[in-house]
Amino acid sequence: MNPDLKYSSRPFRAAGARGVLHCDGVSLEALAKQYGTPLYVYSAYEIVERFLLFKSAFAVRDHLICYAVKANSSLAILKLLADQGAGFDIVSGGELARVMAAAPEAAGRVVFSGVGKTAEEIDAALQAGILEFNVESESELQLLATRAKKRGAKARFALRVNPDVFADTHPYISTGLREHKFGIDIRQAPAIYRAAAKIKWLEPHGISVHIGSQIRSAEPFGAAVRRVSKLAAQLRSEGIALKSIDAGGGLGIDYHSGGDGSDAAAKVAEYAGAIEKSLDGFEGRLLIEPGRFIVAQAGALVTRVLNVKKNGKKTFVITDAAMNDLIRPALYQAYHEIVPVKPRAGTARAVDVVGPVCETGDFFARDRKLKPIQPGDLLVLMDAGAYGMAQSSNYNSRMKPAEVLVEGKKHRLIRRREEMKDLLATEIY
Ligand code: LLP
Repeated sequence: MNPDLKYSSRPFRAAGARGVLHCDGVSLEALAKQYGTPLYVYSAYEIVERFLLFKSAFAVRDHLICYAVKANSSLAILKLLADQGAGFDIVSGGELARVMAAAPEAAGRVVFSGVGKTAEEIDAALQAGILEFNVESESELQLLATRAKKRGAKARFALRVNPDVFADTHPYISTGLREHKFGIDIRQAPAIYRAAAKIKWLEPHGISVHIGSQIRSAEPFGAAVRRVSKLAAQLRSEGIALKSIDAGGGLGIDYHSGGDGSDAAAKVAEYAGAIEKSLDGFEGRLLIEPGRFIVAQAGALVTRVLNVKKNGKKTFVITDAAMNDLIRPALYQAYHEIVPVKPRAGTARAVDVVGPVCETGDFFARDRKLKPIQPGDLLVLMDAGAYGMAQSSNYNSRMKPAEVLVEGKKHRLIRRREEMKDLLATEIY
């Protein structure tokens, strides 16, 4: 790592006489030429830097930052973060297998969240010796006890409680209200802890909460943590001393201006301040599960323009990337800034930037004012490091893109582009 490199914004900047967009010290034009498009490009420095922002913001207390694997589960990125001491928040046996492949030494720093864990997944996590199961229902707690008994080992658990806190975000990624499928009603939690404390195979270890994703204000995090701290204090007075509070993930980024790198430190500090204040004398360890904030702005999707066509009054810029590569605009009406790798002179005009998939919903931007674009040009979809590749699919029998990790002036392929043979590999006919 380069300790002198302090980012004030995204790692993607125009450089050189021709103003070509670079990721750190590497030209995106060169990367597109070498690896083809669509191509995900990430800055290792930016990922580490963002992780370290959390570390320093919570330095005053015992804490563990459990990176939410779902945001970007590429093995090289998991390894990069594990090397910095990160823990991991997983939600499936597949994510556990990823952590075990990339960084088996981090098994004891894993928390397992999710509303529907199978017996096989629980067994694998017990076998790996993870830190804690974030349990989301009484029946799941029973299943956990049964599986732990079978192994003759105690299972550490936290109840994921539902604090009934509203967070202003897209309805698909808001989770902290009583009407959502997540967690256990906080009012029922004390009785469940009391009963579990009597079961030999269960260790009440912590309490967890996660109110949603892409939340830009610190206030709801504080409100949620205040509620769980109160519960932890109550349990302590009854003789159930929990070792950790897990505040979940959810801190959002600025997809519109993007240039909030210097602001990023302030955002994390504000978030940490709200949590710190609400912990209210809790002396155990704090866990957090950030995903998006660590990887989103460190990554971008580079795509080549296949065609520019006019239908009626509209101009469509058709790219070789599509909704199967980055589904966020189609699924959440999400905004991603679009920047040309080499800007052309001229007046900006409103265009739709769309992929080749046979759905009207396959768009990256609608009526976006962009400078002139021609077939063959390279465009960059910004802030695609989180929930981009991780949510990609083979829809329309399209092959998934390649991924490249940039480290200063160096770069390496961390996932090869899928080939036709990969597409057909699992099928029987
Ligand atoms: N912990 C739990 C239990 C979660 O469910 C999530 C995200 C996180 C942590 C990490 O949240 P983050 O820090 O990344 O906001 N696909 C959507 C986001 C879905 C988030 C799901 N849960 C998107 O592209 O916006």
